[in-house]
Parts: sequence; C-alpha cells; structure tokens
Amino acid sequence: MRLGRQFPPRLGKQSGEGRDCRRFPAVLISRQRGPQRLPSALSRRGGLRNRSPGRWIIGRVQRRTVLSTQRLTLTTWIEEDLGELALLHSDPETMRYVRLGRPESREESRDLLASYLREQADRGWTKWRVADQRGRLVGRAGFGGHGRDRELGYTIRRDMWGQGVASEIAQALVRWHREHNGTAPRMRLLAYAALENLPSRRVLEKADLVFTGHAEHNGMNCAIYELPGEP
Ligand SMILES: CC(C)(COP(=O)(O)OP(=O)(O)OC[C@H]1O[C@@H](n2cnc3c(N)ncnc32)[C@H](O)[C@@H]1OP(=O)(O)O)[C@@H](O)C(=O)NCCC(=O)NCCS
Repeated sequence: MRLGRQFPPRLGKQSGEGRDCRRFPAVLISRQRGPQRLPSALSRRGGLRNRSPGRWIIGRVQRRTVLSTQRLTLTTWIEEDLGELALLHSDPETMRYVRLGRPESREESRDLLASYLREQADRGWTKWRVADQRGRLVGRAGFGGHGRDRELGYTIRRDMWGQGVASEIAQALVRWHREHNGTAPRMRLLAYAALENLPSRRVLEKADLVFTGHAEHNGMNCAIYELPGEP
C-alpha cells in the first residue's frame, strides 16, 4: 500500500456505505484489530507500506442505532462526539444532580466518552447518544454498571426539558433492559435520583420503577428506585 498515492483517500467511492457516511471521519480498519487511529496505524514499524494490503481497509466508524422511539434515536458514540458531549456537561444547571454535581471540563468528558466506547465494546451497553430526527444531540441516556445491576441514567439538553423527552427515553430503556436480560445471572434495574430532583423521580415512576429507599450516591442524598419483578 503506497501511502503517498492513497491519502487522502477517495472515501465516497471506497466505503460504499451510502450518503450518510459522509458525516463520519475516515479511519484505517485493521481486519484483525478493527478501527485504528490514523497516527497509530501509520507509526507502527514499517508503517503500512510493508504490510499486506489485504490486512487493511479504509472505512468510516459509524454510530450504530441501539433503539428508536417516536421522536428519538439512541446510538453508540464515535470519538468525534466529544465536542457536543463536553458542551452538554459544561452546563452547571444540567449537571447539578449528575455525576459529581458540577460542570465538567473537556478532559473529563474525554475520559467519560472513552469509558462509553470501552463499555460498549466490552459488554454491549453503556450510556448512549440520544439524537432527534435530524441527528442533533438531545442528551445521553442508558445504563451504568453497578455491581451486578444496571443503573438507569439520563441527561437531557436544557433547552429540551419539559417536553416528555426523558420519559420517552426511560420507558424505551426499561423495555430494552427487559429484552436484553435473558442470561443468568439476570441483572436488576436500579436508579438513583437526588431527593430534590423531582422531575427525574417523576420520570422514573412513569417508567414503572418504584421507590425502595434512600442512599448516599456520588455524595448526594438520593432516592433509590428499582424495577419490580427483577431478576
Ligand atoms: C431530569 C430530566 C432528565 C427530566 O427530563 P425531561 O425531558 O424534562 O422530563 P419529562 O418532560 O419527560 O418529564 C418530567 C416530569 O417531571 C414533572 N416535573 C417537572 N418539574 C417538577 C417538579 N418541580 N415537581 C414534580 N414534578 C415535576 C413534569 O411535569 C413531568 O411529569 P408529567 O409528564 O407527569 O407531567 C432533565 O431535567 C435533565 O436532564 N436534568 C439534568 C440531568 C439530570 O438531573 N438527570 C437525572 C439524574 S438522576
């Protein structure tokens, strides 16, 4: 593979994945190791020049749809989503009851995004990207791991609050949990909401979770909710 002739690659013709893929960045994909960041792929000993061309393809990393509701789509993330995730997490009011209860830096969001990518690859579930019908970020929602339990969580862009978005997502995630909880040991579905976070508690109740007690969680006094009848 002669890099001088191949880069920049003519991606539209090579990926063959339709028009939507133009929004996603080009990557080198090792047939053994999957997508590789371009600099690390090139810096391997001998670069790509001495390698069998059959080991590499040029493609695009795409978000994969996990579930859809009437208005929203939940997808996996790509590294290029960092900017919008960091923006969501930079708003003090949005972050008041989330994680450490304060706005987060771009570096913290980078670490968080890395953990989402890792969890998705390792176990197939994480907190996913929530988008509207035009693909714009609405928030993030899904599951954290909590011992052997799944912990339901959601954070919605502030200008979208009060439109039933979190309720729509939470109910869809409860369905997803039930449909993806078949193998023993089955997981419980839990959620924590700060006692004074009344909108979030209402969202959980509307998604059929029931209040089971109190706990300190991330330094906040929280109400615990559980999906009854599980595992
Ligand atoms: C909490 C949050 C997810 C709610 O999202 P949302 O899309 O606005 O929620 P919805 O519109 O689906 O539903 C909110 C419900 O709370 C109710 N509600 C709103 N303010 C309320 C209040 N002060 N007291 C009681 N209920 C309230 C609404 O009426 C609605 O219930 P209804 O459908 O029965 O009328 C959103 O505010 C958010 O992202 N906050 C920041 C992150 C966060 O706190 N995440 C949860 C961590 S546990």
